[in-house]
Amino acid sequence: MRLEIPTSAERFGANLFYKVQKIYELDGGHGVDSEFESRYHVIQQIPYERIHEIEKDLAIVIPVKDERLRLLEGVLCGIPHDCLPIILSNSKSEPIDRFRMERSMVDTFCRYAKKKYIIAHQRSPEIARLFLEGGYPHLIDEEGLVRHGKAEGMLAGIALANLAGKKYVGFIDSDNYFPGAVFEYVRIFSAGLSQGKTPYSMVRIQWHSKPKIVENDLFFAKWGRVSRITNQYLNQFLGHFTGYETEVLRTGNAGEHALSMPLALSLDYSTGFSVETHHFVSMMEKFGGVMPAPFPEIMKSGVEIFQIESRNPHLHEVAKGDDHINEMIEYSLSVLWHSAICPANLKTEISTELNRLKIIRKNASPVKLRQYPVLSDIDFEAAGRTIDWSQHGNYIPA
Ligand code: GDD
Repeated sequence: MRLEIPTSAERFGANLFYKVQKIYELDGGHGVDSEFESRYHVIQQIPYERIHEIEKDLAIVIPVKDERLRLLEGVLCGIPHDCLPIILSNSKSEPIDRFRMERSMVDTFCRYAKKKYIIAHQRSPEIARLFLEGGYPHLIDEEGLVRHGKAEGMLAGIALANLAGKKYVGFIDSDNYFPGAVFEYVRIFSAGLSQGKTPYSMVRIQWHSKPKIVENDLFFAKWGRVSRITNQYLNQFLGHFTGYETEVLRTGNAGEHALSMPLALSLDYSTGFSVETHHFVSMMEKFGGVMPAPFPEIMKSGVEIFQIESRNPHLHEVAKGDDHINEMIEYSLSVLWHSAICPANLKTEISTELNRLKIIRKNASPVKLRQYPVLSDIDFEAAGRTIDWSQHGNYIPA
């Protein structure tokens, strides 16, 4: 890949939030191009070999809930061969067993492609046992199973990726219409992660556009209703601490993102669709230097957050109504509002915004969402003893 060097950034404590990087070429070529050696060059080349090195250590978690099988198959097809797909499903088993259908399609696809993979149902007793034996009961509900929700599936995916020995973990939604876009996202994850100068890095994708039909014409919208609002308040939150107004954060709701495993295990998480915005809250709280730092070694090494703009348009299932959009807005702003370091004036602005959008009543607080502590609390040795890998696709950790 050939892309901009991440030069300007906002610093908040140990966090470096880089401005969005633009891609020049999706394939940067083999070997190192010496033309890029000049210190004054603003574009960098990430050679294919470097991308490949990361891909071998990268698991891609695909959360699925009752999506069309063809879409899921297209997503699998877009994942570079050396990455390990981990399909985490919360699909129905009644009246039709959708998980069985997914499992059968994935088994066949991966057998034909000779691809290694892991598949699990989020609500299976075995996944629950993994967390219980690992001494992490927070995800378990009254039925003794992992709770419903996208974030909950993602956390199960991170735990499996770590048990599988992977150094990086990325996320791709299962309802993407374009395998080519999926392929690009994973390449961006690898290119972004290869830039990390510390063991703690994250890559977040800013979609190039989301095509829509407007008056019989294609219109390539840049911002969705949710991300426009989330990013505005996220930047205000950051600006409050740096003392400078900023627009650097553009990826508050990035469903497509990847993390180095040490960072993934050091963040705490918020439920459902608030998970992506909460990454920022967790990083600002834990590594911002305003609250006591739980991980002194991270404060020393620093955390790097790369935001990269994809080139493919993003086309996914859109049959989601206003209630879903409003819930996502409330969830995203709620994690800012309830943060222990959220300034009082920002709380007032957020409440006013939610009231203006008719999501909460005047002077009411946004819903307080369930939070999960850091995954490094899991005893992975004990958790690993519960897993029978032969039941979960075709992957046995070395
Ligand atoms: N395992 C699991 N468990 N997967 C789930 C669950 C669940 O409870 N709920 C949803 N999913 C899967 C869906 O099948 C889909 O692949 C993905 O998670 C995203 O869910 P959608 O319902 O399609 O979300 P969206 O398109 O409105 O929002 C997506 O994009 C946002 C950015 O615009 C999500 O990725 C958001 O988290 C993201 O902020």
